[in-house]
Amino acid sequence: MKNFTTVNKIKVALIGAGTWGRAHAEIYSSHHLSEFVSVCDLSEQKAKVLAQDYGVKYFTDYEQMLDDTDCDAVAVVTPDFTHAGPVIAAAKRNKHILCEKPLATSVEDLESILNAVKGKNIQIMVDFHNRWNPPVCKIKDDVDAGKIGKIVSAYIRLNDIIYVPTKMLTWAEKSSILWFLGSHAVDVLNWIIGAKVERVYSVCHEGILKDRGINVPDLYQTVLEYSSGAVATMENSWILPDTNPYVNDYKLNITGEKGMFNMDFSHNTLLERFLENEASHPDVICKSRIHGKPTGLAYESIRDFIERIYHHEKVLISLKESAAVTRIILAIMESAKRKEPVNVVY
Ligand SMILES: NC(=O)c1ccc[n+]([C@@H]2O[C@H](COP(=O)([O-])OP(=O)(O)OC[C@H]3O[C@@H](n4cnc5c(N)ncnc54)[C@H](O)[C@@H]3O)[C@@H](O)[C@H]2O)c1
Repeated sequence: MKNFTTVNKIKVALIGAGTWGRAHAEIYSSHHLSEFVSVCDLSEQKAKVLAQDYGVKYFTDYEQMLDDTDCDAVAVVTPDFTHAGPVIAAAKRNKHILCEKPLATSVEDLESILNAVKGKNIQIMVDFHNRWNPPVCKIKDDVDAGKIGKIVSAYIRLNDIIYVPTKMLTWAEKSSILWFLGSHAVDVLNWIIGAKVERVYSVCHEGILKDRGINVPDLYQTVLEYSSGAVATMENSWILPDTNPYVNDYKLNITGEKGMFNMDFSHNTLLERFLENEASHPDVICKSRIHGKPTGLAYESIRDFIERIYHHEKVLISLKESAAVTRIILAIMESAKRKEPVNVVY
């Protein structure tokens, strides 16, 4: 029997052993080009359980983990507003970085990250996994091929059921639907439209989450003006009823001079499941399994990062693009606060 060559795998350390940290761990431990080596979480219990599940070392301090672990890349999967510390620590040690979205939630954090990464021979990518979303990619290819002409307008609706801020996330109040899902939405619009957001105008609604003890707006309705002349409307809500068929309500329209696309990523009837006590539309595209192996766009982005680092290829999403998303969302929040249009400062 022929022996195939074994490869020098990329060693990956994970910071954040929560819900999404587990998705990362699954890929690092199962991909043939990567090896999952250690995990860190402020909660020793969470770090220990995940470490035991994958047979890796665990830590409760990421500085210590990075000092004691031989690794090539670091995944930052801590809450939205805590990415700067771990990213800077990894950059200081010249590690490649896959950071969960958003890159940062303040100008100060963003500037510190940009300074820490500047001049380093490392790659950093933010996990905007819609760049691996099949219908979004089809739209992007067709737009780039000129099939609908110049883009005139866009509409995106990316919402969560109220379960997410009230029950799933313990830190919703320190983030916002804009950081949690709006960052994906802005990245999708920017990628497809291929121009710069110059000005935003946003209105938010408050009260429903506040009544539940979570001091954060319920939703934002935003208009984004692009340098190309395209105008986009973006809706991000955290208060959909839990009876919605899926955790997200995700719709997209892109209209050009010669045609348009409509995407419904949430209420489609691709798979309807009727059980004795439950009717549902199970997710089989975002995060699923085929023959026991993790599959779907949420895993594809992580897989692609590993493969590009391994092959010394440039990661698909630039730091500049991810930084722009943070600056646009900060402008949206400012606009909603001031109740007037705000120019985006890059
Ligand atoms: N790409 C996606 O679609 C997607 C989906 C879900 C979540 N996320 C992102 O992943 C990140 C984590 O989300 P989650 O749902 O897993 O949250 P979570 O609360 O389940 O997990 C976060 C973990 O980070 C740990 N943590 C916090 N600060 C830390 C620190 N300084 N050092 C070590 N550990 C620390 C917490 O103890 C917690 O266990 C967020 O940025 C979120 O937006 C991305």
